[in-house]
Amino acid sequence: MSTRTLRSQEWFGRTGKDGFIYRAWMKNQGIPDDEFRGKPVIGICNTWSELTPCNAHFRELAESVKRGVLEAGGFPLEFPVMSLGETLMKPTAMLFRNLASMDVEESIRANPVDGVVLLCGCDKTTPSLVMGACSVDLPTIVVSGGPMLTGKFNGRNIGTSDLWRFSEDVRTGIMTEEALNLAEMGMCRSRGHCAVMGTASSMACMVESLGLSLPGNAAIPAADANRKVIAQLSGRRIVEMVRDDIRLSSILTQQAFENAIRVNAAIGGSTNFIIHLLAIAGRIGVQLSVDDFDSLSKDIPLVANLQPSGEYFMEDLYYAGGLPAVMHSISSRLHVDCVTANGKTVGENIHEKISLNRAVIADLDQPFNPISGIVVLKGNLCEAGAVLKPSAASPALMRHTGRAVVFEDIEDYKRRIDDPDLDVDESCVLVLKNVGPKGYPGMPEVGNMGLPRKLLEKGITDMVRISDGRMSGTGFGTVVLHVSPEAAEGGVLGLVKDGDEIELDVPNRKLQLLVDDAELNRRRGLMTRQTVSFTRGYVKLYTEHVEQAHLGADFDFLKGGSGSAVSRDSH
Ligand code: FES
Ligand code: MG
Repeated sequence: MSTRTLRSQEWFGRTGKDGFIYRAWMKNQGIPDDEFRGKPVIGICNTWSELTPCNAHFRELAESVKRGVLEAGGFPLEFPVMSLGETLMKPTAMLFRNLASMDVEESIRANPVDGVVLLCGCDKTTPSLVMGACSVDLPTIVVSGGPMLTGKFNGRNIGTSDLWRFSEDVRTGIMTEEALNLAEMGMCRSRGHCAVMGTASSMACMVESLGLSLPGNAAIPAADANRKVIAQLSGRRIVEMVRDDIRLSSILTQQAFENAIRVNAAIGGSTNFIIHLLAIAGRIGVQLSVDDFDSLSKDIPLVANLQPSGEYFMEDLYYAGGLPAVMHSISSRLHVDCVTANGKTVGENIHEKISLNRAVIADLDQPFNPISGIVVLKGNLCEAGAVLKPSAASPALMRHTGRAVVFEDIEDYKRRIDDPDLDVDESCVLVLKNVGPKGYPGMPEVGNMGLPRKLLEKGITDMVRISDGRMSGTGFGTVVLHVSPEAAEGGVLGLVKDGDEIELDVPNRKLQLLVDDAELNRRRGLMTRQTVSFTRGYVKLYTEHVEQAHLGADFDFLKGGSGSAVSRDSH
């Protein structure tokens, strides 16, 4: 052990009045005096909430972490932070990601902790915790809550991606409300987060591929006893990380980010990954641009056969060897020298971790799909970029020019999408405006908007859709998302009119509104900007400071970090 004075001793190692205050009130929890004398204090940052069903088992998980911390000679202290549940929060959990990250950052810095364990599960809880922790930069390890067991309905496997199919089937009468109710009872069979490669699973894979968790963390189901084992082992490990002073900034190198981008391509990870990874990079000071996601994933095929890009579930990924086996499969494309939370390199962690089921995790030279990753489109419609996930889209629509059918906002879309008189056919391009970071506000997951009922009834299953919003990581379709700048920020998206031709050319990474500049300037001159303004509270702060999607949608004033030092005392 180093002779370095622990940060926590600036509180607990003090004499006189201050030391008395810092220790005495803690003792009301029944803590013996020697706990305060130089043991590494480990904060367990818990996003437990009964309103976040994906994280509802986290108090139990925290007990396993504590056990590990105690075994290694540390002093564990669990604390709550704002929890973001994807399913219940309106208007979208994304609106609060930056707020939660501020809660995490300030809670860590203000308290006497030497190292932190982040308990993350549902989509936004992972990026918000990692972002906040990066801005303090203490030794930190992530424990994910794990996915749910595979859902069951009518003798087949289901997961969140089926929800989008079911909802179209109910709209066209193929599925009854009664059947939908039965599916509801079989969808979420256990504790844990969404069981497909949606955003939560992509985030769990992101932290593992960045090196922020123990190897194998991403795929262990929440209901599997091994989930508790990895929580306990992580508790042991964080104490060693404090002793060795392994901080987030020493793990989160440029190469670590490149590994994460390549792994996200290989697993067919969520489009939301881009926004969250950009925000994390911004906090830790690594230069990353939206274009890197395209260029770095170009030579990575889809090796994991998981919904929504493929057919299997997270439980299957675990049985096939988990993320270490995926990383083993693409190891020739990874920076294997990156050091990870367990003190070992990526190469050491994935050595001999071969796939145990090649239907689920394929070899690099025999991939499940040669197309993977997330492409970044440019053009007059999205000067700063827009994204599309080709593995979840229709090959026939990768080059498509069609007539725009425009919805000014989400209410307009809901009002008219099923109108039998809506002038639309399957060659059209559906355009949804004002669902970006500022326009909604909060950039909700509505980009994979359902198709017009009359086209569903004709058997149409996909159309080109464009918006400045996001889509659920469980979603699919030929969906252009994150158009930047957004309509509410003066982007050209706001100028699109019914009948305009739009050209999507994925092979050439192009998205073009086929209207000349003179006409666009004329429209811009006529436009009356109807921005909703908020006079108070968090939403006012959000709309005034949120950056555009291609920058990660963090607040401008949250970029970077302030370290862990606090010079002044509280009394
Ligand atoms: Fe929490 Fe899908 S709703 S992960
Ligand atoms: Mg989601």
